[in-house]
Amino acid sequence: MVEGRPFDDSDIEDESSMTKRRKLEHIEICLDEEVQCQRSTMFEDIEFVHNALPEIDKDKIDLTTNFFGLRAGAPLIIAAMTGGHPKTKSINQKLASAAQELGLPIGVGSQRAAVEDPSLADTFTIVRETAPSVPVIANIGATHVRVAPDAVSMIDADILAVHLNPLQEAIQPEGDCNSEGALDSIAQIVDSVDIPVIIKETGAGISGDVAKSLEEVGIAGIDVGGVGGTSWAGVEYFRAQKEDDDLKAQLGLQFWDWGIPTALSVIMVLDATELDVIATGGIRSGLDIAKALALGATAAGIAHPILRQAVYGSSLDVVVELERYLEGLRVAMYLTGAQKVEELSSKQLILSGKLVQSLKSLGIDYKKVAGGI
Ligand SMILES: Cc1cc2nc3c(=O)[nH]c(=O)nc-3n(C[C@H](O)[C@H](O)[C@H](O)COP(=O)(O)O)c2cc1C
Repeated sequence: MVEGRPFDDSDIEDESSMTKRRKLEHIEICLDEEVQCQRSTMFEDIEFVHNALPEIDKDKIDLTTNFFGLRAGAPLIIAAMTGGHPKTKSINQKLASAAQELGLPIGVGSQRAAVEDPSLADTFTIVRETAPSVPVIANIGATHVRVAPDAVSMIDADILAVHLNPLQEAIQPEGDCNSEGALDSIAQIVDSVDIPVIIKETGAGISGDVAKSLEEVGIAGIDVGGVGGTSWAGVEYFRAQKEDDDLKAQLGLQFWDWGIPTALSVIMVLDATELDVIATGGIRSGLDIAKALALGATAAGIAHPILRQAVYGSSLDVVVELERYLEGLRVAMYLTGAQKVEELSSKQLILSGKLVQSLKSLGIDYKKVAGGI
């Protein structure tokens, strides 16, 4: 992989549209700066009970799984990252090629700009073209009601993700902090498409109460997008710094780690609803995926850890990185005696530390969580 500057200055400065420019800035900042949360996911407070006599053949472990009624090669999704600028097409192509190779579900970045400017659509349609037989997840914001059906048809999506990012908007120099009526907009989005709608946070997590309200408007699942991985307050801190916006930069530092850690958020949402849950945000190993599944998540998702490969490397580099995660998951399944993915959710867990304290404080029965939800 040859690393340099991912985009030329001309790619960024010649663009009149702020939305398009922002897409490249986000990628550059994610690659060049340290934007990970300093707080953890809380997965470190979860341990499996080792099974010294697993009685299964590791080579026969089956990672295939049901993902919102569709078949997936493994319970791991390539989380929404990009599209919407001509320079992002090859990134999406490499991610989609890896998704197709491994049979993994793949999300695209926010599509609103491309619905409004069809000349950008190919930066998204490349995903469906390259990955014809995996679950593909469209992406819009909660207020983008009007564009929902077009975003879905643009990439022949199987699932529509609606992203929530109030923390990012609050730190973003040009952020939109009016969230009035968002739940009603989500209800309208659910009514306007005929595929499952999931709600995804982007790094600050989703609480049980919010999940319950969302369940009532008919969504199919939640990607918790919790604390512990990429910090969007962090990413916007660097943008604010560049724009000499001292107040926003200061707020970025202050709220860098704001939110609900991923493991805790998964537990809260499963405790409060019957929804399918995806664990994204700071998933950094196959063992993290195994722990998320053991809590009851349907799948885990990763974004940042495969961005570098997708920008500077080839689709094979992305596959190699994803395979590392899948091999870690296989080893965790072997050492707990789980032949199939769904068996992980009944494995006993040992919970400790801040996770247990947080569950006690929230009135959630941690012993029930440890026994398998
Ligand atoms: C460069 C980049 C761009 C992203 N763009 C989007 C987006 O357009 N829509 C969205 O819902 N999430 C977006 N995300 C958030 C991810 O889907 C994910 O929720 C978040 O990064 C946490 O996962 P991670 O810790 O594995 O990076 C983006 C993430 C990255 C790294």
